[in-house]
Amino acid sequence: MRCRDTKKKARGEQTMKVNGVPYRTIWLDEQDDSIVHSIDQTKLPHVFQVEQLTSLEDVIRVIKDMHVRGAILIGAAAAFGMYFAAREAPRGEAGESFLRQSGDRLKAARPTAVNLSWAVDRQLTHLLPDGSHAERSARARETALAIVREEEEACRSIGEHGLEIMQRLARAKPGQVINILTHCNAGWLGCIDHGTATALIYAAFDAGLPIHVWVDETRPWNQGARLTAWELGQHGVPHTVIADNTGGHLMQHGLVDLVVVGSDRTTRTGDVANKIGTYLKALAAQANQVPFYVALTSSTFDWSLRDGVKEIPIEERGGEEVRSIQGWHQGHLVEVRLTPENSPVKNYGFDVTPASLVTGLITERGICEASESGIRQLFPELQD
Ligand code: MRU
Repeated sequence: MRCRDTKKKARGEQTMKVNGVPYRTIWLDEQDDSIVHSIDQTKLPHVFQVEQLTSLEDVIRVIKDMHVRGAILIGAAAAFGMYFAAREAPRGEAGESFLRQSGDRLKAARPTAVNLSWAVDRQLTHLLPDGSHAERSARARETALAIVREEEEACRSIGEHGLEIMQRLARAKPGQVINILTHCNAGWLGCIDHGTATALIYAAFDAGLPIHVWVDETRPWNQGARLTAWELGQHGVPHTVIADNTGGHLMQHGLVDLVVVGSDRTTRTGDVANKIGTYLKALAAQANQVPFYVALTSSTFDWSLRDGVKEIPIEERGGEEVRSIQGWHQGHLVEVRLTPENSPVKNYGFDVTPASLVTGLITERGICEASESGIRQLFPELQD
């Protein structure tokens, strides 16, 4: 179950740890390549459980039910889903349509994070050209592993670039704590390692900068209270969990130096879809002149879109997540109802923050303005 990578250690890079043991969020079994392991995030922070995935069905289920979640991890899981699909595909001509259908089923599992369709399409590009069943399975395996490696490295680079912002803030407040506010979990749990928004937080902490993180609880699923707080705690980063409505008050009182969040889909013009409630934090940040950064790997850009509010599909999830809340009671995970039994509920998973509210995008290639021209400076290969 343990995820070892001696090459990584030799390079002295950071690896996220659970009770001192390095883990990634998803990995192929070293002995049996019909098994993929992933951390079940529905049980954290109370129970740390690794589960085994052995089929396309398993992968679709864990993405839908949010055992794995976060844009980058969803993409990596989908890549392994296509690996299973390649193994399960019938031999002969029917194989191609099976792969296409499998890709469509994976893409439908969660609609907002573009990383999912990006990973499926990357797999299909490699799989659909002719090949034997065995060749296709081998190609799908290599592509899934490449996606995991590349995303991990991209997050590490985000940390390096983001550290410059943190050092600038530290120079402006010598000897004082830098307060960072984050929403949802754009941490290593939502990625492979390091995280996106947390990559700069971990980089700053490891560099010895005095930091403290305000963690939005992030109703209804509580990714902040449950996951971000847990992983920051595992790394020893000082943090405080706050109710979602607290950020504006903190900003008015000078208690936030920087907001940094992740993204599930960013348009070529810099509009950012992220967990519901992000937009309100961006509005409060602008009103209080607090820098608002978005950290993302390039797989999160949707180059086909220009207007995020109009064009990004927003996932609506089941009402149970709003009606009730999960917690730990006398050694068990329990679910309790919050709302009157008959009150209707609505559960939008994401919202869109317009580029005009974003101070900058932190990517593996560097930091840029959230605008088409800014993004083009980092991605000159972008077609019109
Ligand atoms: O519904 P989730 O938990 O998958 O939403 C996750 C987020 O909104 C994260 O902020 C985002 O995926 C960035 S992490 C790579």
